[in-house]
Amino acid sequence: MKKRKVYLDNSATTVVASEVIKEMEPYFGAIYGNPSSFHFFGRMAKTAIDKSRVKIADLLNANPEEILFTSCGTESDNIAIFGLLNAYGKKGHIITTRIEHHAVLYSCRHLEEFGYEVTYLGVDKDGVISVEDFKKAVKDNTIFVSIMHANNEVGAIQPIEIIANELKKINESRKNKICFHTDAVQTAGKLFLDVKKLGVDMLALSAHKFNGPKGIGVLYVKKDIKISPVMFGGHHESGLRPGTENIASIVGCAKALEISNIAIESNEKHILYLREKLKKGILEAIPETVVNGSGARAVSNILNISFNYIEGEALLLMLDMKGIAVSTGSACASGSSEPSHVLSSMCVDPVVAQGAVRFSFGHYNTEEDVDYVLKVLPKIVSKLYSMSPVLNLSLSDRERQYLREKKFNRKTPSSKR
Ligand SMILES: Cc1ncc(COP(=O)(O)O)c(C=O)c1O
Repeated sequence: MKKRKVYLDNSATTVVASEVIKEMEPYFGAIYGNPSSFHFFGRMAKTAIDKSRVKIADLLNANPEEILFTSCGTESDNIAIFGLLNAYGKKGHIITTRIEHHAVLYSCRHLEEFGYEVTYLGVDKDGVISVEDFKKAVKDNTIFVSIMHANNEVGAIQPIEIIANELKKINESRKNKICFHTDAVQTAGKLFLDVKKLGVDMLALSAHKFNGPKGIGVLYVKKDIKISPVMFGGHHESGLRPGTENIASIVGCAKALEISNIAIESNEKHILYLREKLKKGILEAIPETVVNGSGARAVSNILNISFNYIEGEALLLMLDMKGIAVSTGSACASGSSEPSHVLSSMCVDPVVAQGAVRFSFGHYNTEEDVDYVLKVLPKIVSKLYSMSPVLNLSLSDRERQYLREKKFNRKTPSSKR
């Protein structure tokens, strides 16, 4: 089989769809006005932003005035959190989860340094929070709740609608209403997002995760939610996100969300088929593999698998040499790699978590991509097994014999060499 390039890191970012590039092109050339200018050039740019805002609002079942353009998912999350707390004006209690993206997690940790109290909800072995835990966590001084829609490492979908319902009941008897934000960066373009059905007050998304351009995010803010600016300058985006708008990317974001939404169902079928084929192929061919978070309702495009006794990073590098792009769950901190905070929260054994690799599919992946991975991966794992100090130290001679020669080699004849 010839070497090919296989991109299985679509949860990190996606290729920009050609239809999106086409839609954006005029805004790099003919339509270059500043949308704040009153002349013809400015008005053309302003019209493009207005139309994009309406399109995105329609797709999310929101009003155009509730849509704010930002520079990315991280900025949307930050404006939601700090904007809400700034407007509230008093310190209080926040509820979030242990498995949030760092955009939320680190913001909450930062707030703790300034005297806010934060409850980090734990998750079960599938990466899902408990509604009961959530209800118990609510206090008289709770101001804000931020729970991600789907996790970026294992794909687990959180019970957002149920939490929103609970909050609605809790808020009925409270003077100071608790605001509910969700980071929907990993679900936009994969699930139909209806802010009214979800019942959230704020929702963040990022275009580069759904075949749109990088550098553009969206924040939905329900009209009765008050947020204060966290950046200062111009009057752009209702004064909440000052700075000349990134028109080409705004237009691209709206187009990308539109075409992703049209293709949600067909994509889901296609991607699920590829994911299951890869999962089955890996589990059958390679011993000592575990799927992380496999039992939960999850987005269809993520497959997180641990290859016990080997380092996920080593696997990533060797796959890269074969043209296959994946990612690991671990964050490299000051030269040492730490197990992923998500897998740790799911009580995955640290040794198992070190061997975790995330395969994330996108619209453009094909069956040939999966066949190529299934051809290449067992040989790489076999090689890494033979070099694994963990494997050599932790198993008895008989277990090593079984793994190396019998079970492993039976499924992967090529590793006999
Ligand atoms: C769940 C989640 N939230 C936020 C972000 C940050 O998005 P951006 O890269 O647009 O800042 C990511 C990116 O990986 C993510 O997966």
